[in-house]
Amino acid sequence: MSNDADRLAMAAQLARQALRATWYLALNRLVDWRTERLGLARAFRPSLPVPSLAELLADQWRLLISDASAVRDRLYPPTESQSIAPLSHLARVGGMLADLPDALSRRANADATTAKGEPAAAGVPHYYAQDFHFQTGGYLSERSARLYDVQVETLFMGAAAPMRRAALGAVCAHVAGRDQRRMSLLDVGCGTGRFLRQVRLALPAIGLGGIDLSRAYLEEARSHLKGVRGAELTEAAAEHMPLADRGVDIVTAIFLYHELPPEVRRRVTAEIARVLKPGGLFVFLDSLQMGDRPGWDGLLEAFPVRFHEPYYRHYLSDDLEGMFGDAGLTVHATATPFLSKLMVSKKR
Ligand SMILES: C[S@@+](CC[C@H](N)C(=O)[O-])C[C@H]1O[C@@H](n2cnc3c(N)ncnc32)[C@H](O)[C@@H]1O
Repeated sequence: MSNDADRLAMAAQLARQALRATWYLALNRLVDWRTERLGLARAFRPSLPVPSLAELLADQWRLLISDASAVRDRLYPPTESQSIAPLSHLARVGGMLADLPDALSRRANADATTAKGEPAAAGVPHYYAQDFHFQTGGYLSERSARLYDVQVETLFMGAAAPMRRAALGAVCAHVAGRDQRRMSLLDVGCGTGRFLRQVRLALPAIGLGGIDLSRAYLEEARSHLKGVRGAELTEAAAEHMPLADRGVDIVTAIFLYHELPPEVRRRVTAEIARVLKPGGLFVFLDSLQMGDRPGWDGLLEAFPVRFHEPYYRHYLSDDLEGMFGDAGLTVHATATPFLSKLMVSKKR
């Protein structure tokens, strides 16, 4: 039974998130408007059905209510009122808008090669040194690391963080009733550390680690984790994790798999299964797949036309449950929070 304080916490969370979503919806519209003005909009008529904006916003609202309900039920804490200083945020918004003409020109010319020119490209796998999303420098520049979150939130109308919180709910439900001081969580493809910070605020005593191939993104993650007990961040490929067998209680992978070639997806899954303890939890969150919401399939069809996502089409119909099962991970629950797919598995 929730009391008045819990209901108030729910209302405050909903208000905070609605305001944030409105801001990013405005940025989303601004980017579309600027794209038109630059004459670089790309006409693409999906062959499959697409939802209306009203339908999308209604579903996003359901996501926010579900997040606020988890706060009311004390599954995890509310979001911080401010995890980035407003001026720094505005500077990043300006950076995103300034970068737009270059990114759109690359899209028009089907050119995704600036990452290859970055010094860090020498040490990473071939499939990785590309301009994912047509971002300048791919994942390999400091500028890209600074702009990534604003770009992603603008694309998702502010829903990226609430979708990640659906994964946080699965993590917290697993930890409830256990001694978190004796537990560890590894976020694979942790990027700029947005999810790690959310986990840290919810679970102050758990052992936290993150792995990512991008030094620049890990630097941004370190800076984002300032002010809270940190995480051990490792620059490494998810398909060769420098970790012992059966040492981790929980592994999470968020918006990672759709960016991996099919065979690397399988190697990463085998690695995740290897480092997990028996009975350990694997929480996967990534894009919807074809057929998850048939009325929205046209959106999935259009995504790789608008953004450089070389492995996304294969991802859309990959047999994730079969792949997890082959690695020894049994799926216990699946959900589709807004534009994402959440799969919760346990190692056999
Ligand atoms: C779309 S971003 C998602 C980042 C983060 N999980 C989030 O929720 O925003 C994908 C991330 O995966 C990382 N990545 C891609 N391939 C990788 C690999 N083979 N090994 C480790 N990290 C990888 C990228 O550097 C990037 O930070």
